Amino acid sequence: MTNLSIQAPIQPSELDPYRPAALADPYPVYARLREQGPVVFVPGRDIWLVPGYTEVVKVLRSHDDFVSGDGVTYAAATLRTERYPLIESDPPDHNRIRRSLQPAFMKDPIEALRPEIEAAAARIAAEVAGLGEFDAVQVVAQPMPDRAMQLLTGLTPPSRQTLAEWSDAVSRAEEPAGTPHHFELLTEALNWLVAEGIAAMPAHCLGRLIMSDGGTDGRLDPEGPERLMTLASIWMAGIDSTGALLGNAIDAFIEHPDQWELLRSRPDLIPNAVDELLRYEAPFRVFYRHTRAEVDLGGVTIPAGASVGVLYGSANRDPRQFPEPDRLDITRENARTHVAFGTGLHLCLGQPLARLEAAAMLTELTTRVERFERAGEPVRDPSQTVRKFAALPVRMIPAKGAA
Ligand code: HEM
Repeated sequence: MTNLSIQAPIQPSELDPYRPAALADPYPVYARLREQGPVVFVPGRDIWLVPGYTEVVKVLRSHDDFVSGDGVTYAAATLRTERYPLIESDPPDHNRIRRSLQPAFMKDPIEALRPEIEAAAARIAAEVAGLGEFDAVQVVAQPMPDRAMQLLTGLTPPSRQTLAEWSDAVSRAEEPAGTPHHFELLTEALNWLVAEGIAAMPAHCLGRLIMSDGGTDGRLDPEGPERLMTLASIWMAGIDSTGALLGNAIDAFIEHPDQWELLRSRPDLIPNAVDELLRYEAPFRVFYRHTRAEVDLGGVTIPAGASVGVLYGSANRDPRQFPEPDRLDITRENARTHVAFGTGLHLCLGQPLARLEAAAMLTELTTRVERFERAGEPVRDPSQTVRKFAALPVRMIPAKGAA
């Protein structure tokens, strides 16, 4: 008798990563999506999802077939005609804008921020030590990128909470569950930039370089909204993303205390640990691309005009690229091949800064904290784009001999 293994048929909704259960724990859904094939159509939403590592890299590197200029969010294609410069542009415009910003993100200018970033990390770690029990989102995850982006751009926001809400609204406005309130917050942020933020920037900062000089080579358009939207999008891109990384990192170390202990004894592993944390919990769940002509991906034909969702978190847990992908392993040899920062033309511009912030924070915390424990139930944020915590109550056990 033949041994037949019969799998229960999968209902389309089970493959919908926007279901509340899938948002809370996306990894089982990602695994099922990867089993379905290189690209999976989700009928109710009219989207094509790319869950596997090889295909994600392929889509992100095939910018002629999978364009960004028709929007990179769930709603972009229908809701907006204006595009964000850079992230929602294609060559040749993308090359022009990126070239005029890239020098500000090279090694030397980012290294120049190191002393202040390290000082901020030391202040945050000292506060953590003083509090004992705290919400890691409020005390660690948000303050670090706030300070870093202030140092980078020259913008001092009205308050940390306001900035967190503005940054959150950038992605929330364009999610299936986006509301007019998120658009109001975005308008509020842009109005504040125009009325107050830009005028208060210091003489030498990235913000002035963009607004007054048009970037390092003066090629950002002085007419229309290009300069303002470039500044706004860089500023916002650096807040929620790095905050998510830091919150997710503390949670991951609570779940894997052996990895925290290892990191404390081997500070040389910090750079690799940052990559492994980004692999393990990609801060961005998804960005989109659009097709303008029919295109083949791994033997599946995607029609013209399709919205194609690139699932970073799923690619990062693909066992064909990362053995035992659901295990946090800060010594993982190929951790750096994760796609949490994307790849290709739109590879994250701010990644050197995000890495610096995370490494500085881990350096300080590993010195002062023997271990983190839960001090209450963590609350995942409802964002459908960013995987982050709304609240992460923790208790820190101080390291012996730490001041
Ligand atoms: C852990 C933190 C971060 C993560 C996970 C992250 C992730 C990403 C990803 C996945 C993309 C590619 C989007 C696409 O392919 O469509 C991207 C692009 C971008 N990121 Fe980040 N990012 C982070 C931090 C930052 C920071 C700190 C800044 C600013 C200082 C920044 C600025 C940008 C910009 C300007 C782009 C657009 C680049 C382009 O289109 O050429 N990001 N980021």
